[in-house]
Amino acid sequence: MKKVNLNSPIKTIGVLTSGGDSPGMNAAIRAVVRASIFYNRRVFGIYHGYKGLINGQIQELFSSDVSDVITRGGTFLRTSRCPEFLEYKGREEARNQLLKNEIDALIVIGGDGSFKGAKKFSNEFGFPIIGIPGTIDNDLFGTDYTIGYDTALNTVVQAVDKIRDTASSHDRLFFVEVMGRDAGFIALRSGIAAGAEEILIPERRTDFRKLKNYLQEEYRVKKSSSIVLVAEGDDSGGALVLANTIQHDFPDFNVRVSILGHVQRGGSPSAFDRVMAGEMGIASVQGLLNGKTNVMVGMKNRKIVFVDFEKSGKHHKKVKQSLLDMVKILNV
Ligand code: ADP
Ligand code: F6P
Repeated sequence: MKKVNLNSPIKTIGVLTSGGDSPGMNAAIRAVVRASIFYNRRVFGIYHGYKGLINGQIQELFSSDVSDVITRGGTFLRTSRCPEFLEYKGREEARNQLLKNEIDALIVIGGDGSFKGAKKFSNEFGFPIIGIPGTIDNDLFGTDYTIGYDTALNTVVQAVDKIRDTASSHDRLFFVEVMGRDAGFIALRSGIAAGAEEILIPERRTDFRKLKNYLQEEYRVKKSSSIVLVAEGDDSGGALVLANTIQHDFPDFNVRVSILGHVQRGGSPSAFDRVMAGEMGIASVQGLLNGKTNVMVGMKNRKIVFVDFEKSGKHHKKVKQSLLDMVKILNV
C-alpha cells in the first residue's frame, strides 16, 4: 500500500464538484470520502460547487452517505458555474467559510475553469488544493483520460449506431453533432468507434472543398449512408449550418441532422470511469496528506501522476495525428 503521512496537519478535507458535471463524479466523491475516513480524517461535502462554498452549504459526510452513488450519473453534491468566485471578494468569503468549518484542505472535481479558480484561491490564501479531472471533454493536459469521457464516448457510439440503421435504410447523409466547444476528443474517438465517414473537430480547419469532393465522389456514387460527425465547436459552425450548406449545394442529397446534446453528459458511468474515479479519488487524499497542493491528479500510461494546475490547462492538449490518420485509412 502507498505510504501516507498520517501525521499530516490536514485533519479535515472538503470536497466539491464544479463546472459541467460528468458521469463518474459520484464515484470520485465516494472514493474521496472513503479514503479520508480510511486515513482517519473528517470529510465535508460542499454543495453546488464554489457557489455553495461561498454560501456555506457545507455538511459532514460519512461512509453511508456515499452508499449506492457509484452507479449514478451526475453529482449528488450538485455543481454550478459561479461568477462570484471570479472576484477576490467571493474567494475571500469562500476562505472564511472554510475557516469557520475548520476545513484544512480542498479537493475540487471539475474541469479547466474549476482548476483555474482553485489555483488562484490556493495561491491567494496558501490553502492546500488538489484537483480531480471530471469532464466528458477529455481536454485537460497531463492526463490521458478525464472522468466521464469513456461513458460519453459509449453514449455517442450507441446513438450513432442507431442513426446508422435508419441512415442506411434511407440512403441518407447524416450530420451528427456532439459536444466539445473547444475540443474534438469526443468527436474523434466516438467517430472512429462508430465508423463515421468524416470527423470535423475544432483543432483542424474544415476543408470544405475536400468535404464536398468526398461527398460528390463517395456518397453520391455509392448512395449508401454517410455519417459526418461534427464537434459543436468546429469552425464550420456546427451540424445545422453545415447541413444547410451541403443541401444547398447538392439539392438531390437526402440530408438529415441530429444534435445529441446533453444526453452525452448523463447516464450511469462505465466500468472504466468508475475504476479511474476510484483511483483518482484515493490518490487525491493520499496526495494532500503527503503535502501535495496546486496540482491535478492525472492518469498517464495507466499510472497516477500529479500535474501542476499551471500545466493542466485545456489548450495544451494536442489531438493525436495517428487518430486522424486512422479515419483516412478506415474510410478508403
Ligand atoms: P469547468 O470546470 O467544467 O471548465 P467552468 O469553466 O464553467 O467549468 O468553471 C467552473 C467555475 O470555476 C466557474 O463558474 C468559476 O466559478 C470558476 N472559475 C473559472 N475560471 C476562473 C478564473 N479564471 N478565476 C477564478 N475562478 C474561475
Ligand atoms: O465541458 C463539458 C461540456 O459538456 C462541453 O462539451 C459543452 O460544450 C458544455 O459543457 C455545455 O455546457 P452547458 O451545459 O453549460 O451548456
